[in-house]
Amino acid sequence: LVTAGPTQEALDPVRYLTNHSTGKMGYAIADALAKRGAEVVLVSGKTSLATPQGVRRVDVCSAEDMYEAAVEEFESADCAVMCAAVADYTPVEVADTKIKKSDAEFTLSLRKTKDIALELGKIKGERKIVGFALETDNEQSNAEEKLSKKNLDMIVLNSLRDEGAGFGHDTNKVTFIDASHREELPLLSKSEVAERIAERIEALLK
Ligand code: C5P
Repeated sequence: LVTAGPTQEALDPVRYLTNHSTGKMGYAIADALAKRGAEVVLVSGKTSLATPQGVRRVDVCSAEDMYEAAVEEFESADCAVMCAAVADYTPVEVADTKIKKSDAEFTLSLRKTKDIALELGKIKGERKIVGFALETDNEQSNAEEKLSKKNLDMIVLNSLRDEGAGFGHDTNKVTFIDASHREELPLLSKSEVAERIAERIEALLK
């Protein structure tokens, strides 16, 4: 199971909250895993990318949709790669009609969404979970905290401070962190990073 792309949290029929994720990294991972012979389901937020060959894609919109699809697909999975940029908060209310402008300021009430990686981590049993951490500061310690809090087997850390890493680029610079090791990779294409992640997943599942 691979999750990828952004989520969209509706405010009204014409507006939503989202982020800069393009889905490139998750799609590259799905492709690399399928090429190695894995049966891959890609739970994807809205992207403009083509489905990699041999991959089954489930399209979702909101964080709640993604949570439901991921929980369902995780049932028959051996491993989940949580690559999606899931909204942390969603509007408390979705207006039925377009919200009209009136005052100079407008306040929006948001509530927390479910953390999909954390929820799958609670029920994983023998299954493996690889998560991502996109950090802007205290990268190493934030990533290590997520590894243990979400009960992940490995975390792929990328820092927005690294040139050529993160949203929209075709390259990425990542560090793999598990309970006992840390491996810093050089700047690579996202398909090369995906290959290295697929190799690690194969080793985890042996
Ligand atoms: O806590 P943070 O959002 O930085 O954690 C990132 C990791 O958790 C990524 O693997 C991301 O896909 C996953 N995540 C999730 N559901 C959320 C938030 C994050 O699966 N609601």
